[in-house]
Amino acid sequence: MTTPLPIDPGAITEAAAVLRRGGLVAFPTETVYGLGANALDPSAVARIFAAKGRPANNPLIVHVLDAAAARSVVAVWPELADRLAQRFWPGPLTLVLPKNHAVPDTVTAGGPTVAVRVPAHPVALALLREAGVPVAAPSANRSGDLSPTTAEHVRRGLGDRVDVILDGGPCLGGLESTVLDVTTNPPRLLRPGLVSPTELAAVLGKAPQPPDRVCESEPLPSPGLLARHYAPRTITECIAHSAEDRVLKLVQNGGRIGWLTIEAPSNPGGPAVVIRMPEDPKEYAARLYAELHQLDNLGLDRIVVSRPPDGEAWQAVHDRLRRACVIT
Ligand code: TXA
Ligand code: MG
Repeated sequence: MTTPLPIDPGAITEAAAVLRRGGLVAFPTETVYGLGANALDPSAVARIFAAKGRPANNPLIVHVLDAAAARSVVAVWPELADRLAQRFWPGPLTLVLPKNHAVPDTVTAGGPTVAVRVPAHPVALALLREAGVPVAAPSANRSGDLSPTTAEHVRRGLGDRVDVILDGGPCLGGLESTVLDVTTNPPRLLRPGLVSPTELAAVLGKAPQPPDRVCESEPLPSPGLLARHYAPRTITECIAHSAEDRVLKLVQNGGRIGWLTIEAPSNPGGPAVVIRMPEDPKEYAARLYAELHQLDNLGLDRIVVSRPPDGEAWQAVHDRLRRACVIT
């Protein structure tokens, strides 16, 4: 049995034809919406960089239907990749492997490796099946902006820079995939995401190497590690203690303030725009970008985020908050 598509199958057929003709299709995945092009067509891929305003030195993730299709874009497929794929695909894990000749340099930013993943969303999988080509897709936002978790976010951010937007509803994961470089031993975590280090360690037999500390003047192991990235336009600060006092002070100074908090405010009727966030890290992750998008659209003077708890389950959330906030 196949999962019923939350979308008209005719829309998929049309979008697949657009991809094959070298066009751009935004599509839902379980993490965030992607901006897709035929990964084997260098001029189609160049259009992604132009639409996003993305620097050419930031490589793209290639989305494929299954592990067999992943093997068609890599030069080697280690046994470890097979085990990771079996455990986590379709799902939010991206594997970095040596690329083969089929992959144009535009996709990998001239580098020798390619990032691949199988997305766990029925619309994404139907599109990949129908298109019959691997699909290079970064998040469907202008470079540096927040990633989109709804079709409406894509429309607002990219508008007519994209040929087709497939609306598959809100993304359930809400944060970008975990990126794991399996060309090193032990494999290196390049970007924390919805698959945790503990889940990876269970398959690797050891902990992955943590992400390097990023020095921005040097070439980046993964440009997604740039410190400022995934950011709202509104100045955003993340506060560990007494966030409510901070919000009150900003409001008293005449600011229009948005506040993201897990704890209930002691003065719920106060003048700030308060968004209560879930206590569960997965639910928090699923809503984070959507709430930041919403606050960003209100034209506030500032967004304050109460720092969520510590612990591995919150690693990806903390990573994205560090990039979204100017003050932490
Ligand atoms: O969840 C996701 O991964 C989403 C959906 C659409 O699949 N995509 C996404 O793409 O977040 P993007 O381009 O926004 O982020 C891709 C990350 C970047 O940090 C990029 O530098 C890194 O993956 N990356 C891509 N290819 C790489 C490679 N060959 N080596 C190292 N890092 C790579
Ligand atoms: Mg992105």
